[in-house]
Amino acid sequence: MSAVMSAPVNHWAIRPLTAADVDSLLHIQTLAYGAQLQESRAVFARRLTASHQCSLGVERPGEAGLLAYAVAYWSAVGCITALDGDFAPPPPLATPALYLHDISVLPALAGQKVAHALVVRLMELARSRAVAHMALVAVQGSSRFWQRYGFAEQKITSPAEQQHLDSYGPGALYMTRRL
Ligand SMILES: CC(C)(COP(=O)(O)OP(=O)(O)OC[C@H]1O[C@@H](n2cnc3c(N)ncnc32)[C@H](O)[C@@H]1OP(=O)(O)O)[C@@H](O)C(=O)NCCC(=O)NCCS
Repeated sequence: MSAVMSAPVNHWAIRPLTAADVDSLLHIQTLAYGAQLQESRAVFARRLTASHQCSLGVERPGEAGLLAYAVAYWSAVGCITALDGDFAPPPPLATPALYLHDISVLPALAGQKVAHALVVRLMELARSRAVAHMALVAVQGSSRFWQRYGFAEQKITSPAEQQHLDSYGPGALYMTRRL
């Protein structure tokens, strides 16, 4: 067997995302989401320059372009980012949470545990900062995927946050888990 054929398929690495990754991220987003869930280049560029973002990307070392990304930031339980909305700084007196806004993997890598690696890394990151909650909005019927990681639906009481949730269309669920 040649050296190329024996190379492990999961030979990739996780690193922090920066604003320089926007175009690569948008490429994956176009493939991973339906037209109604696409978000703009300008808003992703702003999110990735926010001081409270903690987003991660996956790449093959030495190769250009992301294989997957997890766009996330430090927020609070009960706070929801609207579709195509900016990452608001966490309110000072609220319960801190790592908010996972968007995770996407190139369809060609589906099922190779790339998302799993990103989720585990984000959980470690939150724990390392003594942040005891994670939150997200499950879309595209992904709530079963999140249940596997211990996420459960959390009801929204704030009309403003409900409006943010509604921006994702019917079926979107706000889910949280304790770490
Ligand atoms: C959801 C997603 C991130 C999973 O990435 P992945 O790297 O293929 O996931 P993993 O390899 O870690 O896990 C694969 C497992 O999750 C399951 N899974 C994947 N997508 C799922 C979904 N939408 N609902 C339920 N289970 C799902 C697979 O069936 C597989 O199950 P198995 O382990 O029993 O075989 C990827 O499919 C994706 O980018 N989807 C489009 C964007 C999206 O919907 N993101 C989530 C929005 S909240």
